[in-house]
Amino acid sequence: LVVTVAAVVVGLPVDTFQPVSYSGWKVLEVRLGEAAETAASETPTVNLDEFDDTTSVNILSQNRRTGVAEVAVSPAALNDVTAHLTQHKVPFSTKLEDLGRKIQAVEPILRAEAELRGAVTFNRYMTYDEIEAYVVKLPQQHPTKVKVEMAGKSVEGRTIHLITVTDDVANKDILRKPSIFIDGGMHAREWVSPSTALGIVDNLLKTPDMTRNIEWRIIPVVNPDGYVMSWDKDRLWRKNKAKGRSIRCSGVDLNRNFGYEWGGTGSSSSQCSVVYRGPNAFSEPETQAVRDAVLREADRTKAYITFHSYGQMILHPWGYTSKATPANNMELKRVGNAMATAIQKQQRKRYDVGSAAEVLYAAAGGSDDWAAGVAKIPLSYTIELRDTGSGGFLLPTSQITPTITDAWVAMNTLAKEVMKVA
Ligand code: ARG
Ligand code: ZN
Repeated sequence: LVVTVAAVVVGLPVDTFQPVSYSGWKVLEVRLGEAAETAASETPTVNLDEFDDTTSVNILSQNRRTGVAEVAVSPAALNDVTAHLTQHKVPFSTKLEDLGRKIQAVEPILRAEAELRGAVTFNRYMTYDEIEAYVVKLPQQHPTKVKVEMAGKSVEGRTIHLITVTDDVANKDILRKPSIFIDGGMHAREWVSPSTALGIVDNLLKTPDMTRNIEWRIIPVVNPDGYVMSWDKDRLWRKNKAKGRSIRCSGVDLNRNFGYEWGGTGSSSSQCSVVYRGPNAFSEPETQAVRDAVLREADRTKAYITFHSYGQMILHPWGYTSKATPANNMELKRVGNAMATAIQKQQRKRYDVGSAAEVLYAAAGGSDDWAAGVAKIPLSYTIELRDTGSGGFLLPTSQITPTITDAWVAMNTLAKEVMKVA
């Protein structure tokens, strides 16, 4: 697909990212269904990679099971994209006429309230500064239960915080407790993910039963630079802020940068792609931070959970291929199903369970695969939080608290499983 690139306006500073309004962008619902089913290979015959350049097209979601993809298309690229789809006989419809208008409609509400000054809220999304102010205060407020460390620094120098929550956190006996590792905010635009990670922290601090015998280690925002970018410049930014050959072609998809089967299907070697895998595995300080934090206590870490959105899915390895299964595949499915069943029962929300490659699409370099394949964490999951597409990344703030409860129900089930094997 040849996409007409708008002429560069002479005189604009080349190193400044002009805010993207998404004004006039359409969201297309693309039915890859038949292509996805009949293809022998793991990639559907009509490959969305061709469109994959965020200046003109931004892939919002892709689901192998339903065969539906949602793609945001700029006004400049619209004709080329629709012509391409028609030519390949791929049915599509317009899901949203003006993405920019929808973003604008929800944003003022999000930014309305005054600064929190170290408090936490789940009534709206928190800025990175607000999250950081809350996180660094936690140990003073809960000295026996919370420890906060720096797991690393982002490309732009922001601190990646690691929160440990357990009873008697200063006692070295915690080195005998089983541990559960959780991260959020790996993908910038998935705003409900950091909120959910913080919601778990908040719930843990109110539920002594959950912290007595388990140590919880939580990185609420793996990708602070991207998160800030998604607030200030581009609501649909996904990657980190690694320098690329141009400002628009910058960033690495952190969930394609982990060192297990790195470089395979579903990741791109093109800097402009939203799924750019980076120059090599663990090239990014953000993925290094997760790697090092997980490895430090890997032998007693029984579960690794990474919160993403959206889609309502509980995904387990392998994500890189549907042609192989991990040795403990049955166990992964059993615990995944137990979490989904608990959510269904208590929350009346359906979460699909399966390997990432069978439910979504194959994508190599994910943190879940690395946690299972290299760090040897027995229970490794990507949880795609709410919703199933109507809010998507722009999930209404009224859904933050119920989404946290979904995750909390799942974490209760997970904790029981962990105690069984520990
Ligand atoms: N939506 C997530 C992503 O695209 C799913 C990752 C699932 N895991 C995997 N290893 N592919 O990053
Ligand atoms: Zn994600």
